[in-house]
Amino acid sequence: MTDYQPGLEGVPATRSRISYLDGKQGVLTYRGYRIVDLAEYSTFEETAYLLLDGELPSAAQLQRFDTLLREHRRVKYNIHDIMKSLPVTGHPMEMLQTAVASLGMFYPAHVPVQIRSPGDETEQYIYGQSIRILARMATLVAMWQQLRLGNYPMRQRSDLSYAANFLYMFNGVEPAPLVARIMDICFILHAEHTINASTFAAMVSGSTLASPSYVIAAAIGTLAGPLHGGANERVIAMLEEIGTPENVKPWLEKKLAAKETIWGMGHREYKVKDPRATLLQKLMRELADSQGAISPLFETALALEEACEETLAPKGVYPNVDYYSGILYREIGIPTDQFTSIFAIARTAGWLAHWREQVAENRIFRPTQIYTGSVPRDYVPLAGRQSG
Ligand code: COA
Repeated sequence: MTDYQPGLEGVPATRSRISYLDGKQGVLTYRGYRIVDLAEYSTFEETAYLLLDGELPSAAQLQRFDTLLREHRRVKYNIHDIMKSLPVTGHPMEMLQTAVASLGMFYPAHVPVQIRSPGDETEQYIYGQSIRILARMATLVAMWQQLRLGNYPMRQRSDLSYAANFLYMFNGVEPAPLVARIMDICFILHAEHTINASTFAAMVSGSTLASPSYVIAAAIGTLAGPLHGGANERVIAMLEEIGTPENVKPWLEKKLAAKETIWGMGHREYKVKDPRATLLQKLMRELADSQGAISPLFETALALEEACEETLAPKGVYPNVDYYSGILYREIGIPTDQFTSIFAIARTAGWLAHWREQVAENRIFRPTQIYTGSVPRDYVPLAGRQSG
């Protein structure tokens, strides 16, 4: 038995074949394939297949998978009705958790037993459910965007890729090819990241053999916090507060002296720059070049990263995935409060892959604790207690 580790830091919670990260070298792989190569050559559909299945698909396998994803984009009108009754002032992640949890009521799923042999009924069930949930995630986020603007949700387009259809339904217009490809790469980069808090939540829920809508709803709730998926929203607020590159140094000195968090900086695992941050920064540069102008937020972010080199880099604190993702989303017209929902769409592929892996060799999570409370004591009736 090891000593207690706050936050379970460094404590293995499972064996997994899905992804690997080397925080000292800044390397991230999905099923052995480097994230840099997947961002360059793959698509989100292919990456999702890879995560779920373990191998890159053949052309025929990819076509079947993609066709199923396209076929399952639509959600029932009842879900539309539930969403319509939610307050438009609510956070999109709260809507998403509610909508995903409700999928279980409209698309009942039998509780899976453990996988006994490859391709058995349970494995087929998990595959089918994974496609349905993944296909609908983008629809739910996009529907909410239109509903809260007072519009009727756009009909899904089965002639568009996952990323392009999402942007079409979200904004109501078909995206330019570069913007669709940027969204596709963002989905790839956010699809999986070993055993982080939300994935662990999905695994714990999955280990009870809860049905997948519970599993994904648990993960969504965990992703919502600012120390996890919510950080890129804070990055935008932070950059807006700084205003211009000239203000960076005095602003940073003040924040660090007050021991405040610099959002989008630092990671429990990476002690060098997160490779996803490097890729997102490159995409941001490509977008700026295509527009012939660099956005003020991006300029401020570059200046802040440079200033943090002197102060935070010696502690192994560098930009993480959230540092540049928000700026990129902002540039392609996504409102700040939808950033984490977009993260959730992509990460659903990874959550589902871990759910499948968990169920395949399941043992319910039941850790122990170090009790620090009172020794057994006698119950004191209300009349005998001190007033307070
Ligand atoms: N801003 C300022 N200082 C930071 C920092 C940040 N974002 N991240 C880490 N540090 C400092 C810590 O204060 C600590 O300094 P000290 O040694 O002088 O006390 C040192 O770096 C080590 O950090 P530690 O708190 O041990 O790192 P962690 O692994 O517990 O925390 C995070 C990791 C992600 C929780 C943390 O870096 C953080 O809060 N980052 C901002 C939130 C964010 O962007 N989250 C998205 C992650 S993908």
